[in-house]
Amino acid sequence: MSNIKNMTTLWKPFTPNREFNKNPRIFTSSDGMYYTSDKNENVLDAVSGLWCCNLGNNYKSIVSALKDQSEKMYYSPAFQVAHPLEYELANELISIAPKHIKHVFFANSGSEAVESALKMALAYQKAIGQGSRTLVIGRESAYHGVNFGGISVGGLVNNKRQYNNLIKTFHMPCILDIDKNAFTKGMPKNGAIKAEALLALINTHGAENIAAVIVEPVAGSAGVHIPPVGYLNRISQICKANGILLIFDEVITGFGRLGTPFAADKFGVEPDMITCAKGLTNGASPMGAVLASSQVYEGIINNSKTPIEFFHGYTYSGHPLSCAAGIATIKAYKEEKFFEKVASMEEFWQEELHSLKDCANVIDIRNLGLVGAVQLSSNTKGPGIRGNDIYLECFKNNLLVRATGDIIALSPAYIVSKDEIKQIVSILRDAINKVA
Ligand SMILES: Cc1ncc(COP(=O)(O)O)c(C=O)c1O
Repeated sequence: MSNIKNMTTLWKPFTPNREFNKNPRIFTSSDGMYYTSDKNENVLDAVSGLWCCNLGNNYKSIVSALKDQSEKMYYSPAFQVAHPLEYELANELISIAPKHIKHVFFANSGSEAVESALKMALAYQKAIGQGSRTLVIGRESAYHGVNFGGISVGGLVNNKRQYNNLIKTFHMPCILDIDKNAFTKGMPKNGAIKAEALLALINTHGAENIAAVIVEPVAGSAGVHIPPVGYLNRISQICKANGILLIFDEVITGFGRLGTPFAADKFGVEPDMITCAKGLTNGASPMGAVLASSQVYEGIINNSKTPIEFFHGYTYSGHPLSCAAGIATIKAYKEEKFFEKVASMEEFWQEELHSLKDCANVIDIRNLGLVGAVQLSSNTKGPGIRGNDIYLECFKNNLLVRATGDIIALSPAYIVSKDEIKQIVSILRDAINKVA
């Protein structure tokens, strides 16, 4: 047991602090697919930490890169001075990004990447003489981080209801449709029609007032919502026809989670901007980024009437340690062909996951790439109680999953073996069947 005193000094994020402090779960070290707890138990990680350690924890070349860079220079000013690793990482990113993406702007998290992209959208429209375009459209149930722009375009009500003064936005309907698509393997065939809601919003509010649409290609945090066939292509078509920028929030789907470098590649869509974070550094050091098309970059840079073209940035944008981790991470993805590994594991993962179909209270199972979710009906104690109890039961049996309401979300690291997938599914099956 670790000897932790004064637990309430620490205020944990997105955690029921009062309950947690009575029975904390503490990790003290990690290796690959496993965390070691303060009780000296090895916990199998079925969620890549928080969807970020795509190559598992303590990946050797990333550890070395961080060590080397911390001895050389751990900070260099972000504004008006640069260091070589910023350029190197930007070029590595462009080497795996969709072809029309040519520019990288660094932030420190997914939330900051989203704020940066929203500002870029507004700045771009203003710069090209479309200053009336100030609205941004999001989607119900979406998660775009926790800053004010992100929660405004986001659609998870718990993340908004404690706050006022959100940015004015409108939301398209959620794409999850269990009535029509329950237990679909991969992308649902029904539901592309939901993209037409964007046209309805344009007809109501006027294209000339709308700057951008932001969507998660696969919604992660709300409980893994897979887009219906054709849905994202139609959203893109409507945006292009109406001069509206399309932002793909790929904080979860970026870096191979779906078996392609980005979800944009998987779905054959060319968003104007891609926000990413998490797998960018394999979770080894905080970093986010906006990947922008030339149209967006040149629109802002070439039309600027002030020397600084974009009044935005963070002290730690392009932080040397994060750049070192990012370069090592992308090199590992490329050299070890990890995106192809995800694609080749997808079917095994799908079949194992769907073997849970007959478990107690399971009402849907969804999957794509190396992501999956098992949705359960709520029990009489209220929404989310069954999901949380299953999470705790899994943890008791040394499996880390993620519960979102009554949905158990899974996203193992790309180094996961078939045996480990079987183990994940087996522990989860027992937990689902045990929890009433
Ligand atoms: C799609 C999406 N956008 C943004 C974020 C926020 O990222 P961060 O927690 O790094 O701020 C997340 C986090 O899960 C996410 O899934």
